Amino acid sequence: MSDTPLKIPRHVAIIMDGNGRWAEARGLSRYEGHQAGTENLRRVIRAAADIGVQYLTVYAFSTENWGRPKDEVEGLMMLLETTIDNELEELIAEGVQIRHLGRLESMPKALARKVEHSIDATKENHRIVLNIAWNYGGRDEVVYAVQKIIADHIEPDQVTEQMISDHLFTGGIPDPDLVIRTSGEYRISNFMIWQSAYAEWYFTPTLWPDFDKHELEKAIAVYGMRERRFGKLSGGNADVANG
Ligand code: FPP
Repeated sequence: MSDTPLKIPRHVAIIMDGNGRWAEARGLSRYEGHQAGTENLRRVIRAAADIGVQYLTVYAFSTENWGRPKDEVEGLMMLLETTIDNELEELIAEGVQIRHLGRLESMPKALARKVEHSIDATKENHRIVLNIAWNYGGRDEVVYAVQKIIADHIEPDQVTEQMISDHLFTGGIPDPDLVIRTSGEYRISNFMIWQSAYAEWYFTPTLWPDFDKHELEKAIAVYGMRERRFGKLSGGNADVANG
């Protein structure tokens, strides 16, 4: 092992995939797979905070997930609700600030109120920011930003990349440095399509419930070995088309 300190990504975003296959391999229900995924999320939040990650974004329920069977959708909504009920005190104690990415207004009202409460109750916490992408879609987020820009009567020539960034659900949050997808799938699946333009991607066959602290450290070690060029040349600043 080298003595070089690990380069820690400021913002890690995760597509938590594979709960269903994890459950199926054990003869369990999909709901039990999502329960195991939720348990794992608790561990990963703690691990990320210990490592020094400042922002952790998790893709938990997409705008497309409404198309899953009704009982699975209801099970996932119930999981978010019980997780807030059972974990909020501990999240507060651990310095976790909760934020929500997605459309709250089309979520069940009682759940939306709980999410708002969890955001309010943790707003003074600064150890790690946990962005929960729930009822979230990357394209829908761009639509949302355009709607807000028009509603704010902003003139076309005033629209800049920074302005669009500021109007996304992630306004004020730095772009992800590292995006992880578990379960061996190689797709973006409508996740942070604007913000991940220059993120490093890490794909692993590990199913989400098994993606533990050691796996997170491995992903961060791989990230640390990558050279990020942001469209420029190695160590320089000449403009080239591909980064
Ligand atoms: C994808 O696996 C996972 C989901 C659609 C749900 C992710 C949700 C959680 C980890 C738990 C809830 C989170 C919170 C914040 C309480 P999949 O079901 O598509 O897996 P498969 O591809 O193997 O079927």
